[in-house]
Amino acid sequence: MNFSKALINWYHTHHRDLPWRHTTAAYNIWLSEIMLQQTQVIKVLDYYRNFLEKYPTVHDLSRASEDEVLKMWQGLGYYSRARNLHKTAQTVSENNGEFPDTYKELKKLKGIGDYTAAAISSFAFGEAQAVLDGNVYRVLARYLGIDLPINSTEGVKLFKEKAKQLLDKDRPADHNQAIMEFGALHCKPKKPKCDSCPLQIDCVAYQQNKVNELPVKLKK
Ligand code: ADE
Repeated sequence: MNFSKALINWYHTHHRDLPWRHTTAAYNIWLSEIMLQQTQVIKVLDYYRNFLEKYPTVHDLSRASEDEVLKMWQGLGYYSRARNLHKTAQTVSENNGEFPDTYKELKKLKGIGDYTAAAISSFAFGEAQAVLDGNVYRVLARYLGIDLPINSTEGVKLFKEKAKQLLDKDRPADHNQAIMEFGALHCKPKKPKCDSCPLQIDCVAYQQNKVNELPVKLKK
């Protein structure tokens, strides 16, 4: 079975039921993905619910004061995320409350980088863009046996290419959710579940006994 098919099959039986997986609304997805950066799912759940209750639409968020938004963000950390969130809400609100519907245009918004633009464009609009976050780096490094550092210029370039090649272009949203969830729950940093892994036969790291050495990250 190919990589993406195996992951999507795995995902169907193993994924967590998370609120942002029940929506294709760009606003909701954007909010969840900003909150999920450097922050654990379990912690995000309450904040996500509280934000949507207080600011059901991007217009509501745009009209709030920055102080109020920062108070709502209290405890999540990395407060520049909240400031960028507020600024981008105002930009989008001025555009009739509509988020740009392409990866390229999304990236022009404050606080939206490669990862977030790929997440929103695939989850909300079905654009074939591959996400690359810590979980994805680990899955790809192991599956393909790549020992280039994930935080080197060369490494980033190679991983981007590989992520794009392996993406199921007909099902980018499922593919992206599946690979991230697989990294979070199965191909974990420590004690990955290789014994019951659907990718075992084709996994270069497993076959070469290098699972615990990958991915490589440079100390900077
Ligand atoms: N981390 C980042 N994006 C995520 C998502 N959509 N679901 C679960 N964890 C995530």
